[in-house]
Amino acid sequence: MPEPIIQVLNVVKKYDGRTVLDGVKLDVMRGETLVILGGSGSGKSTLLRLMIGNETLDGGDILSLGKSLCHMTPNERDDYRRSIGVLFQSGALFNSMTVAENVALPLQEHTDLPDETIEIMVKIKLELVGLRTHADKMPAMLSGGMKKRAGLARAISLDPKILFYDEPSAGLDPVTSTEIDHLIMDLNDKLGVTSVVVTHEMESAFRIADRMVLLDRGKFIASGTPDEMRNSTNPIVHQFVFGLADGPLTDRRRAEGYEEDLLGSSAMNS
Ligand SMILES: Nc1ncnc2c1ncn2[C@@H]1O[C@H](COP(=O)(O)OP(=O)(O)O)[C@@H](O)[C@H]1O
Ligand SMILES: [Mg+2]
Repeated sequence: MPEPIIQVLNVVKKYDGRTVLDGVKLDVMRGETLVILGGSGSGKSTLLRLMIGNETLDGGDILSLGKSLCHMTPNERDDYRRSIGVLFQSGALFNSMTVAENVALPLQEHTDLPDETIEIMVKIKLELVGLRTHADKMPAMLSGGMKKRAGLARAISLDPKILFYDEPSAGLDPVTSTEIDHLIMDLNDKLGVTSVVVTHEMESAFRIADRMVLLDRGKFIASGTPDEMRNSTNPIVHQFVFGLADGPLTDRRRAEGYEEDLLGSSAMNS
């Protein structure tokens, strides 16, 4: 039986009183690649930030690696952060450090390993992401895809149990984006990690996902295997998965535009 490594339990998140996640429930199973889908503003990044313990919840709870994120002490939170890896949209490298120094940093900060050991570990991580021969380059010399690889090498430096990715192929050309997808699958297999990937790109989602979850305006809509999502009779899932111009997502937008036109945008916010 597969067991959940993360359980998102009726999560509510508000910003300035506005609800952006509304009772979201989902499980991430150990070892799988789960893709979180949804249109822009549907709450994907917010959910990811909550799962990595970067923000506080306004309702519900998230159990990850056996612990409640709501009830963690600051020390437990630091331990938790060290046991996960995150690849942010930008890759977030330090520009004044070489690729190898960027990857070494978490090892220097969080372990007592001698420099020679860290050097070997950095080489292994760089080899895993295909950057071993670029160890001494500065981030500014790297292409977008290579920056992502370097960010990924840093994300796996402490051997995380879960890897989180926010829009890993954003801003990349189609070929590079496919390469990053293959790297995500490769690391999932080789390292035996669990991967949680936020994206709105269906091609990439279908390539990498074991299971998918669709969010819409902060609400959980559906989850399933790629085949289940493709064959879903839920009209929102169908429209999103096939990128159709007609369906509930666009009907709603048109209706809202009209309402806003009639009532004025201020009336919409009340
Ligand atoms: N730090 C924040 N402060 C206020 N509103 C935010 C913040 N982060 C996200 N939001 C709002 O929450 C909603 C969901 O955002 P986000 O999670 O970034 O969506 P997605 O990643 O699916 O595009 C959006 O309406 C966004 O404007
Ligand atoms: Mg986002």
